[in-house]
Formats: sequence, structure tokens, C-alpha cells
Amino acid sequence: MGYDKHDWQQVDRPDEGQAICFELRVTMRLTDGLPVDIPEQGFLLCFQGKLRAWRNHCPHAGSPLDWIPGRFFSDDGEQLICHTHDARFDPLSGACIFGPCPRGLFPLDFQERGDVVLVPQAVDITTV
Ligand code: FES
Repeated sequence: MGYDKHDWQQVDRPDEGQAICFELRVTMRLTDGLPVDIPEQGFLLCFQGKLRAWRNHCPHAGSPLDWIPGRFFSDDGEQLICHTHDARFDPLSGACIFGPCPRGLFPLDFQERGDVVLVPQAVDITTV
């Protein structure tokens, strides 16, 4: 992915069934081909003892998934929800399992360091 070791930031490890949001600069390409940086968020979650980091960007219409900051899980804690049109995603694979999403969530790298986790400050999707 389009970031290196200088672009990491540290976040606390989320508890089981919880997620933590972080700022994420996303570089994308406009229709005229020029790259542009967009401020977004990513989120790091813990589900069944495993961590995953995703871009907080629904693949359906591009809105953030959480309508309350940091609230991503369904009431039963088994799925992630996009609160705009109710798409559902698998927390570990990011796959769309219900709703209008044309594909799964965009994965982000992370590095576990004990009680803290390193997550990216930026991602370049111009080459994805
Ligand atoms: S924007 Fe997420 S389901 Fe439509």
C-alpha cells in the first residue's frame, strides 16, 4: 500500500467487540487524473480476539459507516453496519454480506505492539 514506516500512528488496542477511529489521509485521483488528498478516517476493531483495520468508507456510496462516531457493530455484535443504507459487512474479512455494497471494505495494514497498535496515517489508492 502507499505508505511507509514514517506514516504510522499509534492507537490503543480496542477491547473485544469495540472499534477505535483514527484520522486517515486518502490520496485518490480525480477524473482529470490529478491526485488529491482527502481527509477521512480509518477504524481498528477487535472481533473474536483478532484485530482488523478498515477504511471508514462504505463501498456503496462512500459515506462513513458509523452514524455515531466509533459505533460500527450491529446490536448482536456479529456484523459491521453502514448506517446510511444498512449494508452489512463481516468484521474479519470485510466482505459485504447484505445490502447494496458492490464489494467489501478497504483493508488497512496495522502492526501490533503489545497494548498499542500502529495504524497508517495515510493510504494511496491511486494505484489500487
Ligand atoms: S453508503 Fe453504505 S450502504 Fe449505502
